[in-house]
Amino acid sequence: MIIIITGASSGIGRELSRYYAPNNNLYLLSRREDKLSSLSKELKLLGANSVEIYQVDVSDFDKLQKITQEIAQKEPIIDMIIANAGISLGHSHNGYSSFKDLKKVVDVNFLSVHALLEHLIPSLNQGSKIVLISSLASIITMPSSIAYSSSKRALNAYAQGLRTLLKPNAIEVINILPGFIKSPMTDKNNFQMPFILTTQQGIKRIIYAIENSKRCYKFPKRFFIIIKLLSFIPISIRDKFIASLKKDKK
Ligand SMILES: NC(=O)c1ccc[n+]([C@@H]2O[C@H](COP(=O)([O-])OP(=O)(O)OC[C@H]3O[C@@H](n4cnc5c(N)ncnc54)[C@H](OP(=O)(O)O)[C@@H]3O)[C@@H](O)[C@H]2O)c1
Repeated sequence: MIIIITGASSGIGRELSRYYAPNNNLYLLSRREDKLSSLSKELKLLGANSVEIYQVDVSDFDKLQKITQEIAQKEPIIDMIIANAGISLGHSHNGYSSFKDLKKVVDVNFLSVHALLEHLIPSLNQGSKIVLISSLASIITMPSSIAYSSSKRALNAYAQGLRTLLKPNAIEVINILPGFIKSPMTDKNNFQMPFILTTQQGIKRIIYAIENSKRCYKFPKRFFIIIKLLSFIPISIRDKFIASLKKDKK
């Protein structure tokens, strides 16, 4: 298979790259070239047919699109694109981000996905998959994660529309909403993360969603149910509850 993965240099993206390495042709994108370069060597040892790495900040849309055009020229058919690159501002600031910070989060977590896909979609075939890594944080917005939740909720809306748009071409759009998974992103959090999964537990569920073509897969289930129940209660009560949540220091 020809597989493109963004945010391959660490965390979830790196583990997915390892999982999909054997017998596949991988295109890996992220900013840290040294990490991609050492990963590439490892993936060849794991049995990858080929590994191409691209150093790019996905919010540099012009550079990203030059790369995707180059890949599309080389590969008439692409089997899977995993849009995984993402950032969070963390929860240590007061939540009211500067415009610059909010724009960066929206650019990386949301707009980059369309910049990535625009020139690649014509190379997708029947049965090709687009995997969009969103978050359970897209369902409910904490005051300290306005930028992150907004960007991921926009991604859900995008996924929903794209899925219907591409259905006649039998191209699958898989939107995945994980809760907390251990990774360099969550290692920075200094509060309790309910139901946090180990990296391997998280990856296992993501692969399950991909291989079973789940349209919108939310996990862990217990955390999703709690968040969903919160979204059903009246806004006035919910807002009071959210405001009352204290961030426990580790
Ligand atoms: N871990 C969780 O609990 C969790 C939960 C829900 C959703 N998610 C989502 O899962 C995805 C992966 O997160 P993770 O936990 O694996 O975090 P991570 O370890 O921090 O990895 C993030 C990846 O995205 C890349 N990236 C970040 N900004 C980029 C940019 N501007 N341009 C190109 N690449 C960029 C990073 O590579 P470089 O730094 O080399 O660029 C890195 O490879 C994210 O979309 C995140 O929102 C994570």
